[in-house]
Amino acid sequence: MTPEKASLADWPKHIDIKQIHAQFGSPAWIVSEQQLKSNLDELKRFTGDAGRIFYPVKTNPSLTVLQLLAKLGAGADCASQLEINLALLAGIEWQHISYNTPVQDIRLCEFVLMMGGCVVMDDINAIMELQSRIENNNYKGQLFLRINLPEYIGYANENDNQELMAHGHKSSKFGIPSEDLNHVLKGISLPIVGLHVHVGTQMDNLKSFEHAIVSLNNLTEVFRANGHTISEINLGGGLGIPFDSNQHFPSLKSWCNTMSKLKKEEFNYYVEPGHALVGNAVALLTSVQTVKESRGKKWAIVDVGTDQLTKVTLLKWPHRIIGPNKSELEPGNDAIAGPLCFAGDTLKENINVDGLMKNCPLLITEAGAYTFSLANKFNGRLAPKWLLLNAQGDLVQTMDRESVYDELHHSKYEWNLQEKKGNTQAIDLKEVEALSSKYLFSSCESDRFEYEEVICKIKNHYTFTVSISSVVDFVSMPFATRIIGDAAIVSVLHNLGFKHKTFPIWGRKLTMDCADKIKNNGKFDFTIALSELLNKGAQKCIVVRFKTLCNNFSGSLIVSFEA
Ligand SMILES: Cc1ncc(COP(=O)(O)O)c(C=O)c1O
Repeated sequence: MTPEKASLADWPKHIDIKQIHAQFGSPAWIVSEQQLKSNLDELKRFTGDAGRIFYPVKTNPSLTVLQLLAKLGAGADCASQLEINLALLAGIEWQHISYNTPVQDIRLCEFVLMMGGCVVMDDINAIMELQSRIENNNYKGQLFLRINLPEYIGYANENDNQELMAHGHKSSKFGIPSEDLNHVLKGISLPIVGLHVHVGTQMDNLKSFEHAIVSLNNLTEVFRANGHTISEINLGGGLGIPFDSNQHFPSLKSWCNTMSKLKKEEFNYYVEPGHALVGNAVALLTSVQTVKESRGKKWAIVDVGTDQLTKVTLLKWPHRIIGPNKSELEPGNDAIAGPLCFAGDTLKENINVDGLMKNCPLLITEAGAYTFSLANKFNGRLAPKWLLLNAQGDLVQTMDRESVYDELHHSKYEWNLQEKKGNTQAIDLKEVEALSSKYLFSSCESDRFEYEEVICKIKNHYTFTVSISSVVDFVSMPFATRIIGDAAIVSVLHNLGFKHKTFPIWGRKLTMDCADKIKNNGKFDFTIALSELLNKGAQKCIVVRFKTLCNNFSGSLIVSFEA
């Protein structure tokens, strides 16, 4: 029976491109909660549990996506400490986190296992090193081996760039060749409880997945014979999605139906779908900046290009583009291009741009996978804002557009301080005194605050009402820093269950955005949200996010301690 084909997401049914463009401007990523949930629900039919769907953070590390997935109970496949921290920050719990990358930080492997997460390994040297660090197999997590199968089924349809995506190919760098297992397992004393395979990306062939699940089911015998009882099987990701109506991929439903028949009762099955989970749940809103004509061909130049959609150049996959009249643009002799000084920055060739003019909004769909995560800043183009189309159909902005200030305030940037001869000059301290703020000198005694009410709403979430008295008629940044700093300490200690402050806590990073002058009306109300406990070397950290109720003051603070 031929599998049901995947269809393209119906964005125009749910959003009005013109209205969104008028309200929020472009460029903007738009995440559909409903589409994400429907993809996840389909996959859940196979795994039986959302917590065994490990979303690969590399696919799209946006917090908007990660927080939605955390809310829906999904787990995360992470390739670095930063990806793990992002997953934790979004609210994904340790037991649903997996650490898997070709070269691993052994201390991190150990930490993940201690915290109850999964570690997927395929480097025997690394496994030996980990083994030498862990005493009495004393950890809560689960250790998986990544396998490379000797037969590669591959794709149903030929594509020029398949070798760039064939992670599971028998000649790839990933996985332990299954024919070496008998030998390799002899040296491993850590209990291996899980097997992992990732057949490749943008797979259009269900046979590849059928071969993978059957092979791993059978390989469990080899492990049993070598003293390891396998209970967990992770089939990686790989199911492809169509980028336009000419591409054909099996639907998620047919993938789940086919694979469910091959499950064995004694195993828990996991998946790590990137494209299939977020690919069609994110679209990119752009708008035409100009329409140029050159030798009879029209070029509509838009405000985002292959800086965000690198894959269009790399793999030659053009996305579907929906016009302001809600339908896909028609074929023709024109092109749509991005704004970059790069000849490869063409988003769509052979398209008709008649009727498009300056400020016309366009929607680039199926843009969720390996776009934002592969984005670059070529030509000083900065990341678009993020909008969430929530389950109720409301659109909310979750992240502002990256600003040039984000780059400029990098504290590690070495400003060019080349001295010009004869230019150094001491400034008279009287002059310094005349320039300085009397208020800042005196404010420690004069600016006072007292907590009026502190409410722990839900775990990790606090609201503060603080009465303030200051000699100026607004809440100054130094004053706000003192209040927020102390409130952060109070909430962190409270959250960790302490009754007294008995050890030092210090702030290691502070960002604060005072969008408006905050009036000093005697009260300062704000909320604080805490991340889970994170590890940064020997230190423990908690990320504290804060904002006033009307959002005119917000920021984040990382607090560290060694308790
Ligand atoms: C280990 C692993 N799992 C899952 C994925 C997700 O692949 P896809 O987006 O094709 O589903 C990748 C992608 O490279 C991967 O390396």
